[in-house]
Amino acid sequence: MKKLIAANWKMYKCRHDATQTIADLAAGLGRSVPADREIAVFAPFTALAASAEALAAHMPGKAVFLGAQDVYPAVEGAFTGEISPSMLLDCSCRFVLTGHSERRHLLGESREFVGEKTAFALAAGLDVVLCIGETLTEREGGRLEAVLGAQLEAGLANLPRDLEPQRLVFAYEPVWAIGTGRVAGEKEILQAHALARELVKKILPASYAKMRILYGGSVKPDNAAKIIGLDNVDGLLVGGASLQAESFAHIALA
Ligand code: PGA
Repeated sequence: MKKLIAANWKMYKCRHDATQTIADLAAGLGRSVPADREIAVFAPFTALAASAEALAAHMPGKAVFLGAQDVYPAVEGAFTGEISPSMLLDCSCRFVLTGHSERRHLLGESREFVGEKTAFALAAGLDVVLCIGETLTEREGGRLEAVLGAQLEAGLANLPRDLEPQRLVFAYEPVWAIGTGRVAGEKEILQAHALARELVKKILPASYAKMRILYGGSVKPDNAAKIIGLDNVDGLLVGGASLQAESFAHIALA
């Protein structure tokens, strides 16, 4: 399966900046995305439509896809402030993130709610990048396996039956490495990715054995090549270093 390199723009970029960043990214990537890669840009809701237009204008037919950073698990209804899967599909999104640690920890999303979103978004036709990861206290308390296991157990409850396994992607993002400049070491990444794969194997059918697991947390142009070359690392989820097109293009081609 192709490696997926994803930009998580978080709460940055209005329409003009998003459009310009995509134009610069197209220039930075050169003529084409390498055959073994896919790229995704997770733009804020308000910049999705402009980003879709910019992708169509600057990178038509290239393996560069649009994603949203959140979704609400309902078709439509009285959910003030929320965004449904069909609204995201209408903006040309292919992907949505679920379970990002900022939503779990800053916005209080429960593991069960993450699972609801994951199942609903997949059933509605969006591909999902389900994020998992432990805090420093959990890691230091020897609870890595328990935490990832609980996040996966709840996050994968009620998946649609006929789901094509490649539509579900995982991102391992240790909370202590997100936006801190403290990247996880090689040993820590290898251990957590192998563990996540084993845990998923226990929950999902064998057809998911080859699912992609991205690494996220302080990925930068100077460490991307090393991380993406590690066993069981099938791509990267990049926050801060994805905001500048030049630095993200460098990472995408690493
Ligand atoms: P970071 O963020 O690259 O800025 O650490 C990663 C993420 O939150 O997905």
